[in-house]
Order: sequence, then structure tokens, then C-alpha cells
Amino acid sequence: MSEHGYESLAEHAEQHRLLTSQVVEFPKKIHDGGAVSNASLMLFLRTWLTDHIMQHDQKYARAFSIGT
Ligand SMILES: [Fe+2]
Repeated sequence: MSEHGYESLAEHAEQHRLLTSQVVEFPKKIHDGGAVSNASLMLFLRTWLTDHIMQHDQKYARAFSIGT
């Protein structure tokens, strides 16, 4: 993305940093004795899929004419 001058690179990278910070919280929560329900994990993954991959990743795919 950087190499190709993607205009929304900073925003995209920030979304991935946020994803990483959220993902590492799941095992921490379990390790600390908390519960992570299947429903909450599925909601998290579904939200990432429908929001990030289907919108933001598609945006750079269109910018680079990938898959068109
Ligand atoms: Fe992405």
C-alpha cells in the first residue's frame, strides 16, 4: 500500500492495529479467569468481516483495480 501510494494507508493501518489490540484481549481475558462467549467472539469476527474486509479492504482493491 505504501509502495503504491494508497491514500488511506494510515487509516487502514490504524484499523489493523486496533484489530490486533482487540484480538490479544481475548486470551488475556480467559487467562485472567474471564469468560469469552462464542457469541461475543462470533460477533467480533463477523463485524470485522463485514466492516473491514467487505468495505475497507475492498476500497483498496478498487483503488488498485484488484479483482475487477
Ligand atoms: Fe485490511
